[in-house]
Amino acid sequence: MNRASALGQSPAESATAGGEFARDLRRGFAARPRSISPKWFYDDEGSRLFDRICDLPEYYPTRTEMGILRAHAGDMARLVGPRAEIVEFGAGSCDKVRVLLDALDAPQRFRPIDISAGHLAQAAAALRRDYPGLDVQPLAADYTRRLLLPAPEAGVRRVGFFPGSTLGNFSPAEALRFLRSAAQVLRGGGLLLGVDLIKDPAVLHAAYNDTQGVTAAFNLNLLARANREAGCDFDLDAFAHSAFYNAPQQRIEMHLVSRRRQDLQVCGQPHRMEEGETLHTENSRKFTVDSLRRLAQQAGLQPGPVWLDKHHWFSVHWLGAPA
Ligand code: AVJ
Repeated sequence: MNRASALGQSPAESATAGGEFARDLRRGFAARPRSISPKWFYDDEGSRLFDRICDLPEYYPTRTEMGILRAHAGDMARLVGPRAEIVEFGAGSCDKVRVLLDALDAPQRFRPIDISAGHLAQAAAALRRDYPGLDVQPLAADYTRRLLLPAPEAGVRRVGFFPGSTLGNFSPAEALRFLRSAAQVLRGGGLLLGVDLIKDPAVLHAAYNDTQGVTAAFNLNLLARANREAGCDFDLDAFAHSAFYNAPQQRIEMHLVSRRRQDLQVCGQPHRMEEGETLHTENSRKFTVDSLRRLAQQAGLQPGPVWLDKHHWFSVHWLGAPA
């Protein structure tokens, strides 16, 4: 049984996903500047590479956020309240939510949503094993689309969990749209949101330019995936990983830089790249505590307590969702 059917997704849906990747590649290469959504990083190989990034010495966000969650899980659990349903956006390996689940009073249900079906199924199986009383309902989906979930039963409060600063992948307009739809889905509950903060550019730069080259492999996997799934034949040696902090835009940008002039066939369409031209693969926006709270308020959420690490490198926010 393939992964798609294991998760109850029809083969037609997975075929559409392949077609959508090809369409995004064609569009992305035709646009100026060339760009593609970072959501395409996360096939099984990309999800594995991302898990390795999280363990890198230079990549501080994961361990810093984990430290904040461990230090303040009790406070967070009191805000969430008893018998909650937790919805995690972009759940990945579901490591962080364990800290929260361990602190919660009788959590009812956990709905991890992730675009990487295989990775999600594994994580859900491990959670069912470790939390026998918890109703684990994984959803393999793109949560940047319309979020539709069945209403929780009476007396069950729904709380969102969106750690890892994945919100930073969105443009300001996309972030606002996502938070507005989260406010709807979570009404009467709240959202626990982790976002990375503006800091010394040298620290930011190192986090996306690790010495082991795992981030470079993660970036290049986008082209490897296009070769595997979309019938492309990119020469990976003809592209270089580039990541830098764009201070005026308050974001890390990742690009794949063409090392030479090359004529490409991108899903049947001819494209030329000159030496030094790039495909923009990711933005990772950095926030201040106040800029995030303003954004949340604009989206109809109510900013509450904020927890930080001692360097103020990362932040976790409680955002109430009005009923
Ligand atoms: C998962 C989007 C939060 O932006 O730091 C890590 C992805 N990209 N290294 C981030 C990523 C390169 C990560 N997010």
